[in-house]
Amino acid sequence: MPYYRRVGEVPAKRHLRVDQGGGKGLLFEELMGAGGFSGESALLYHRHSPSAIVAAEPVGDPRDSALGFDTPLLPRHLRTAKLPRGGDPVLGRIPLLGNDDVVLSWVDADTDSPIYRNAMGDELLYVQAGRGRLETVFGALEVGPGDYVVLPTGTTHRWELDGGNLEVLVLEAAGHIGFPDRYLSRRGQLLEGAPFSERDLRVPRGPLEADGTDVEVVVRNRSGLSRHVHARHPFDVIGWDGCLYPFVMSIFDFEALVGAIHQPPPVHQTFAGPNFVVCSFVPRPFDFHPQAIKVPYHHANVDSDEVIFYSRGDFMSRASSGIGAGSISMHPAGFVHGPQPGSVERAAGQERTEEVAVMMDTFRRVGLSAAARHVADDDYPWTWSGRHR
Ligand SMILES: [Fe+2]
Repeated sequence: MPYYRRVGEVPAKRHLRVDQGGGKGLLFEELMGAGGFSGESALLYHRHSPSAIVAAEPVGDPRDSALGFDTPLLPRHLRTAKLPRGGDPVLGRIPLLGNDDVVLSWVDADTDSPIYRNAMGDELLYVQAGRGRLETVFGALEVGPGDYVVLPTGTTHRWELDGGNLEVLVLEAAGHIGFPDRYLSRRGQLLEGAPFSERDLRVPRGPLEADGTDVEVVVRNRSGLSRHVHARHPFDVIGWDGCLYPFVMSIFDFEALVGAIHQPPPVHQTFAGPNFVVCSFVPRPFDFHPQAIKVPYHHANVDSDEVIFYSRGDFMSRASSGIGAGSISMHPAGFVHGPQPGSVERAAGQERTEEVAVMMDTFRRVGLSAAARHVADDDYPWTWSGRHR
């Protein structure tokens, strides 16, 4: 995220002593940097030392992250509506599928999260339903249905629900998530031809300047979960600047590209992560050639496992397969997939699609969790032939 932002009180020069006044002593700088400080960074100004912890203990990880591989190879339809509900937006996540590059989870949260820091990689979240407030060391962000949230590695944050449940699709990457290089100028500005612009990004408007003592923070790293107790509240920042920060972008601000005939998935690309991409399918006019095949023809995506979360609207190409809002399809490399029987004909007279979906294509094979197998529709692999077992 290379777009420079400056929020709150920031001294004129970096790395110089700044007295807080009133006998409070000096400000504490925290330089948060990616790529061993050879990538983007942010410089945050704390009232107290962000390193001052007074206790630490291991925390049992409530989730089962074991991911196994299907044999025989099968396309899958996972039904999130059948997963257990409840928990918080962090510890309540149910891993469904993934690999060493990225893990996709689902959570239908009914309670606020602890303060949390994921040291393993960036997180990309998609809010399916509900509203909430994301408090971070950079400030707060309000989120609602259709919002993507990008949380850089190591961002200390906390989820607060706004009344009802918060349904979230979560991608936890083993690395950094950014925009596709081809959308960016050489110096990092989103180009005119990109399907969204800097104006579509919502960032914290001001620091939280929180105060408090003995504040618990749950940290995830390679060894699992730990609970630290910080002497002072980690959200005590008074200002920050730089090019590394959390932000929100609505999927409805993605400006779809359409053509006379069907456009390939890269026109929908929104994010790029380590060995995976994320695409957004949003309401748009259908292809306008008089004889256009308006749903994707059969295709062999030979280098990717294709995972699609169906958020809302109609899903023309999957109409006869039982897929609806809240479904996840997984079409692995090695399986040629395409529209279910009858959908090409049904789409022929349609002018537009109202579908909203999030696709993750991974470049290495994804495995499935026990929870995913439990909510898989056993009929789905046979829906193209119509010979249900
Ligand atoms: Fe596909």
